[in-house]
Amino acid sequence: MTNDLQSTWAAVDTLAEDWLGVNDGVLEEVMARCTRAALPAIAVSPCQGRFLQLLARVSGAKRVLEIGTLGGYSTIWLARALPKGGKIVTLEIDPHHARIARENFALAMVDALIELREGPALKTLAALEQELPSPFDLVFIDADKPNNPRYFEIALRLSRPGAIIVVDNVVREGAVLDDSGVNHSAEGSREVLRLMGETPAAEATLLQTVGVKGYDGFAIAVVGGAE
Ligand code: SAH
Ligand code: DHB
Ligand code: MG
Repeated sequence: MTNDLQSTWAAVDTLAEDWLGVNDGVLEEVMARCTRAALPAIAVSPCQGRFLQLLARVSGAKRVLEIGTLGGYSTIWLARALPKGGKIVTLEIDPHHARIARENFALAMVDALIELREGPALKTLAALEQELPSPFDLVFIDADKPNNPRYFEIALRLSRPGAIIVVDNVVREGAVLDDSGVNHSAEGSREVLRLMGETPAAEATLLQTVGVKGYDGFAIAVVGGAE
């Protein structure tokens, strides 16, 4: 989207990054490496990365699951929120993305906290369901959008009561309103939102966002009742 509003949103993000100290040299270098490696410019923005970090912090998340690593930009934000002994499992299908992400984890000195599993996420998630004893405290779903309902269902099963599940890009400039069925990403958004609403074991909201990445939004659910 290129219009007046977009340049205002981007300028406000720049102001926020500047005044709130959201960015730093390591994260800028990580982004620069993603760009040099020709990765698509679809990572979360700095302010969104900080938002994910704050969610992880306020919830005291120790085990984080991320679906869709790309160059590891959002992963690094989340890793920085982890307490001692914390761990992130992040899933990526593209070997080139995975290689760049691994380099970035080392650069940001968070590689010891992160387990990157390569392959189609649905397959890796099925394996995780079999093998992992301890459930996740926070799940960030940010991969192929048509699979969002599948990812949410599995995330529910892999989450402890009180866990947070965040789904990125559910608004996409209002495409979530498109009920024609031809936009498979929009269908993924619509289905995951309905599913969140129909799931008694989840309480969810949709937070619309504007900024350097345009107009989009996060769906955010908390799993289970208060204990
Ligand atoms: N979370 C990242 C951005 C992820 S972009 C950030 O904000 O920094 C989406 C990523 O999901 C891409 O790297 C893409 O290769 C990956 N992806 C797409 N389909 C996938 C699948 N079926 N399984 C695992 N990863 C997938
Ligand atoms: C796309 C994917 C993302 O995860 C994102 O944050 C923005 C765009 C995309 O596939 O176009
Ligand atoms: Mg995204």
